[in-house]
Amino acid sequence: MISEVFAPAKINLTLHVTGQRGDGYHLLDSLVAFADVGDRLTFTPADALSLKVTGPFGDGVPEDARNLVWQAAELAELSAHITLEKNLPHGAGIGGGSSDAAAVLRHAGSCGAAASLGADVPVCLTPQVQRMQGIGDLLTPLPALPPVWAVLVNPKVHVPTPDVFKALTQKTHPPMSTHIPAFVDVAGLINWLSDMRNDLEPPALACAPQVADVLNAVAACPDVALARMSGSGATCFGLCHTSRAAQDAATTLRVAHPAWWVQPCRLS
Ligand code: C5P
Repeated sequence: MISEVFAPAKINLTLHVTGQRGDGYHLLDSLVAFADVGDRLTFTPADALSLKVTGPFGDGVPEDARNLVWQAAELAELSAHITLEKNLPHGAGIGGGSSDAAAVLRHAGSCGAAASLGADVPVCLTPQVQRMQGIGDLLTPLPALPPVWAVLVNPKVHVPTPDVFKALTQKTHPPMSTHIPAFVDVAGLINWLSDMRNDLEPPALACAPQVADVLNAVAACPDVALARMSGSGATCFGLCHTSRAAQDAATTLRVAHPAWWVQPCRLS
């Protein structure tokens, strides 16, 4: 029987870097949400593991043990033919590879060793709004977000995560507020978020100056209430009060920047 699993884009609505461990990994405090856009995996039972990558961002994605999907399948001792439809840009700060790996582990019912595949994989196992702390391993589920929409924008520049963390000069920043309120409406959410940050924006801008162009273009859309980078970039998001506003922002950005990846979505 063929099963299909959705691997949503992970969006860091905030990303505070609060310190660094002796082994080099950074301590984070992040509000993580998920989009209704993402990659799709199908699993067909087979005698041996195999992987085929398709989709608009499939070109050049490895179909062997270099792919996190393959590594997750081996970890879960899953024997299947897997098709991965890559709809999300990779190396983009929206957890593409991590979400794909988490989808494999969810499908196999084998989530225990997720962190061994990458710091972002555990949060992607439960694609709902969470507070992520530690190096990504301390997860607290949060009440569902009020209805909120976004436009995701990537300038098709690949920004390696280790380079961004290396370019971070100041390693210790204040955490988010101790208590994250239960947001009753999108205005309250955006108001609270506007006092928070992504501490990786300055180093990402140093690595990829195009991120500034994206942030400026997103912020300039009339219906975007807050523009910020996700993860280590280069994808940025603009938050909107309505689905219509996110679609209008996407249309404006696609016309002005036809080479960019622009995707309206709903977050949860
Ligand atoms: O765990 P993962 O392989 O996804 O992380 C990629 C890189 O990002 C790490 O090698 C490290 O340089 C950096 N990183 C970090 N602190 C974290 C997560 C990632 O320094 N909490």
